[in-house]
Amino acid sequence: MNVPSPSPQSAIPRLDLRAVSVAFGGLTALDDVSFDVRPGEIVALIGPNGAGKTTVFNAVCGLVRHRGEVRIDGAPAPRRTADLTARGLSRTLQGLGLFAGLTVRENVLLPVAARHDADDRVGAQLRALELEPLAGRPVAALPYPDRKRVALARALVTDPRLLLLDEPAGGLGADDIAELGVVVRTVAQAGCAVLLVEHHVDFVMDLSDRVVVLDFGRMIAHGAPDDVRDDPRVEEAYLGLKATA
Ligand SMILES: Nc1ncnc2c1ncn2[C@@H]1O[C@H](COP(=O)(O)OP(=O)(O)OP(=O)(O)O)[C@@H](O)[C@H]1O
Ligand SMILES: [Mg+2]
Repeated sequence: MNVPSPSPQSAIPRLDLRAVSVAFGGLTALDDVSFDVRPGEIVALIGPNGAGKTTVFNAVCGLVRHRGEVRIDGAPAPRRTADLTARGLSRTLQGLGLFAGLTVRENVLLPVAARHDADDRVGAQLRALELEPLAGRPVAALPYPDRKRVALARALVTDPRLLLLDEPAGGLGADDIAELGVVVRTVAQAGCAVLLVEHHVDFVMDLSDRVVVLDFGRMIAHGAPDDVRDDPRVEEAYLGLKATA
């Protein structure tokens, strides 16, 4: 018999959602959602407000109860944050989730404080995102785009294998969005699997290898950016809404 050699497509997904459903009381927030993200891939999760995008992240991170399976590198995802971090997961929050009274350096240090190489990691990450000049400033004193960079630095300082970004371009101008795109691409090229929630359609279509579209908790489309963009169901549920908003 011919045994096919392993191809990237047959490699074990870094993140694998299988028939994931989440209910909040009577509300079905996610209904039978299945997709995966492979090492080095950028997958975007888009859909209108309330479609269930953040709930996907919360299910992956063990923050909401779900039916179905979430797997990381082929094994069931742990529920505790420390265990998820140990498995290489890192996420940014839709709100920034920073400690406003702490400095930039202190915020970025938090996820790695217990490691022996914490100072080196933090220093390298601050340099990479051009935050060094701001390192000693309290986050509360920074303009919003700089705070977004701090949140990204905090997510990247653990050197994640699986990165979940919830609206990283939200509130940013064109130049900052372009810089963000370069950072996300670089992280993916190093082998990290990236799952990106974003309303900014041009940014998503430009950056992603695949796009998953949610509407009322259901996957209504899944594919290459160009195919998804041209899908009439997507236009109706999401892009059309944005165009007339
Ligand atoms: N903890 C919760 N308890 C009850 N309902 C919730 C909870 N979290 C989310 N929901 C509801 O689940 C649905 C999906 O919410 P979710 O935050 O995942 O949407 P989203 O796609 O991230 O939207 P947005 O683009 O506005 O961020 C919404 O109807 C929301 O009100
Ligand atoms: Mg959300």
